[in-house]
Amino acid sequence: MATITILLLLIALPLLAAAASAQLVAQPECRDRCGNVSVPYPFGIGVGCFRDDGQPGFQLECNDSGPGQPPRLTVVGYGYHLAALSLQGEARTYLRATRHCYNSTGELVDRVTEYMSVSGTPYLFSSTKNRLVTLGCPSLGYFNDGRGFYVSGCTSVCRPSQYALPGSCTGVGCCQSAIPNGADYWESALFNFSPGQQDTVVFNTNPTLCRYVFLVETKWFDGQTSNSFVNRTDDFAVPLMLDWAVRNVGNCSAARRNATDFACKSAGSRCFDATNGPGYRCSCPKGYDGNPYLDGGCADIDECRRKDEYLCYGECTNTPGNYTCQCPPGTSGDAYRENGCRVNDKFTLALKIVTGVSVGVFLSLFTCFWVYLGHQKRKLIKAKQSFFEHNGGVILQQQMRSYSGAPGGGGGGFKIYSEEELKKATNNFAADQILGRGGHGIVYRGVLEDSTIVAIKKSKMMEETETKEFAREMFILSQINHRNVVKLHGCCLEVEVPMLVYEYVSNGTLYHYIHGGKGLESNTALDTRLRIAAESAEALSYMHSSASPPILHGDVKTANILLDGNLTAKVADFGASKLAPSDEAEIATLVQGTCGYLDPEYLMTCQLTDKSDVYSFGVILLELLTGKKVICFDGPEQGKSLVSRFTIAVKTNRHDEVLDSRVRKEMGPKALEEATHLVMRCVSMSGEERPTMKEVAERLEALRRYQQNPWGQAGARDLEEGQSLHGREQQHDVTYKFIPQDVLDVEEGSTYTFSL
Ligand SMILES: *[C@@H]1O[C@H](CO)[C@@H](O)[C@H](O)[C@H]1NC(C)=O
Ligand SMILES: *[C@@H]1O[C@H](CO)[C@@H](O)[C@H](O)[C@H]1NC(C)=O
Ligand SMILES: *[C@@H]1O[C@H](CO)[C@@H](O)[C@H](O)[C@H]1NC(C)=O
Ligand SMILES: *[C@@H]1O[C@H](CO)[C@@H](O)[C@H](O)[C@H]1NC(C)=O
Ligand SMILES: *[C@@H]1O[C@H](CO)[C@@H](O)[C@H](O)[C@H]1NC(C)=O
Ligand SMILES: *[C@@H]1O[C@H](CO)[C@@H](O)[C@H](O)[C@H]1NC(C)=O
Ligand SMILES: *[C@@H]1O[C@H](CO)[C@@H](O)[C@H](O)[C@H]1NC(C)=O
Repeated sequence: MATITILLLLIALPLLAAAASAQLVAQPECRDRCGNVSVPYPFGIGVGCFRDDGQPGFQLECNDSGPGQPPRLTVVGYGYHLAALSLQGEARTYLRATRHCYNSTGELVDRVTEYMSVSGTPYLFSSTKNRLVTLGCPSLGYFNDGRGFYVSGCTSVCRPSQYALPGSCTGVGCCQSAIPNGADYWESALFNFSPGQQDTVVFNTNPTLCRYVFLVETKWFDGQTSNSFVNRTDDFAVPLMLDWAVRNVGNCSAARRNATDFACKSAGSRCFDATNGPGYRCSCPKGYDGNPYLDGGCADIDECRRKDEYLCYGECTNTPGNYTCQCPPGTSGDAYRENGCRVNDKFTLALKIVTGVSVGVFLSLFTCFWVYLGHQKRKLIKAKQSFFEHNGGVILQQQMRSYSGAPGGGGGGFKIYSEEELKKATNNFAADQILGRGGHGIVYRGVLEDSTIVAIKKSKMMEETETKEFAREMFILSQINHRNVVKLHGCCLEVEVPMLVYEYVSNGTLYHYIHGGKGLESNTALDTRLRIAAESAEALSYMHSSASPPILHGDVKTANILLDGNLTAKVADFGASKLAPSDEAEIATLVQGTCGYLDPEYLMTCQLTDKSDVYSFGVILLELLTGKKVICFDGPEQGKSLVSRFTIAVKTNRHDEVLDSRVRKEMGPKALEEATHLVMRCVSMSGEERPTMKEVAERLEALRRYQQNPWGQAGARDLEEGQSLHGREQQHDVTYKFIPQDVLDVEEGSTYTFSL
């Protein structure tokens, strides 16, 4: 509230003062001008309107009654005409020139002698603004004070006109002199020289010659052209400047003693002693103007409205007695000077500090983050290294090095991949790159840098104690190069569970071929089936015999036999079983293999042998011949395994019904018998009674040749030879008559359900 009031006052005061200053020239209810002449107090027209300190002079009168005449301001009691008045202590009046005129014979024909007294008034002749001038030659003009004493004068002489100096009043035909301070009386005199010779009279060639002497305002006189007074014979008046002051007291210090008499009435007004004569004058304080002789006559100057006087090139604010000028927002500098304001540097100190702090904080955070990242990276590298070592990478490297060092050796194209490479190849193991999922893990399709397409198997877990064994296995597998075995290109060991990189086989699995597509419908289906069987058997046989101890598959099934574009079989996942623990304690939960393919003997002994693979292969053979799934999931036979169904059918000699109708039709009875026999031997309960993989492969090959050419000698012989070589005796002894305990009674198969 108070603030608002003060604000209002601050706004209102200068306005009031300005309004007052417009009015406060004279006393209230007094005329403040006469015609166009302002009449400020202490001057005044009329009773009570002027300063009355016992001295006449401030009382003026204005005669505007003259028709067609401008109003005329005069000093009461003296009659002088005042043409201008200023509060700065000046007044202008007019004075007639003193004149002596002679006719051509030198007789004085006209004479005017002017006198003027301002004695006892506030006025004095201004010594600085006036001078005495004498015109005509030869002539001596001077003036005396009230007591008849000489005050000032000058002599003008006559010379031939060619020697005169035009435009100046320096003694030839015209002379001038200064007048002293304090002059209050003018009584002029012209010394009467006898008229000079006409030829030397410079200026006046008139028949009548006039000599003049007068006091004149210097400025006005200097403004006249050089010949304004030449040839003059008339009566004229010239302007004269008067200095006025309050002269009833000699100086300010004396005046201040009588407060009621003191003329400087306005608050804060200043008094200074008169420079001409005794007395003093007043002025408004700096920053104010108005009439200091009136109470409240000084008003604040609104400097902002008078930009030409009070320079301001910015935003101007008026204050009492002063003003402030500030640069517009957004700039700084000196608004009192032109172009003094400069656009601010937006980057202020505060902003600098804020920015600095922010940058500092950011940098330290960044550094922390960097250090953290480095730490994480080192940890990652360490982890990779530890995984690599843990997974037998060092051993594998040693083996590879020693192998490649051996004569004729080579890496076998086996490579240890970095995790980065495989990530890149599989587009960071993207879901759309998944080829399949299994109990062991996920298989991704990947494209290596050399644009080889590979299958990358990412296993779920691996037993810790297997590392050395794993490395060895990897090494052996890497050396395998068989057209019916999926090639192992390499592995990645710097991850917790090693990843294996295999050759990519494009045409899906045998499982899909049998159960999924229309493959079995084609004309060459039987031959293809036999060829696939033979090729798979060949691959297994090769693996069993290529190394010692033999490389066992452990999980032979149709899903692990891949087919390429030409339906060539490629056995996949060799040695996968070795990635799993063989610890008896864990076999119940971690047994490898697949239901329906699993060797019953392996289940009992936990000893994986080459005959385990033979058993599984027998199941595949059966699957190929019957076109049925190894475990029936629907129909009346639900839950029964294919092996048990077939075994029971063989027992009752109705196994033909179980076989695929096409197989039955296309295979001759002899071949069918041979095939059935082979299957029954493979799935024999006892491993010893099963044939070796090599024998199986050979018999299948023979069977295939026979099937291609059943009536040809070669085909028959082949079949005979195969039999004679490998199983004739058995064939004769055991012909389809199996001792019940030899065959796994899968009707009690629930005993062998596994949790996979
Ligand atoms: C005013 O001036 C006129 C002539 O100019 C004169 O006749 C008259 O008397 C003057 N009046 C006064 C009051 O002086
Ligand atoms: C004011 O008076 C002077 C003589 O003192 C005159 O020259 C001038 O023309 C006058 N101005 C006006 C506006 O009346
Ligand atoms: C000059 O004045 C005198 C006296 O008045 C007179 O006698 C004389 O004739 C005048 N001279 C001329 C040339 O007018
Ligand atoms: C003064 O008068 C004479 C004669 O009448 C004349 O020749 C001359 O030009 C005049 N001078 C000026 C400045 O008027
Ligand atoms: C002011 O005037 C008084 C008398 O009127 C005088 O005594 C005094 O010296 C003067 N002071 C100055 C500074 O002139
Ligand atoms: C002050 O001045 C007034 C009039 O101007 C006068 O009447 C009074 O006597 C003076 N007082 C003194 C102390 O001089
Ligand atoms: C007005 O203000 C300026 C600067 O703000 C200062 O230099 C000057 O002295 C002031 N004038 C007055 C009369 O206070």
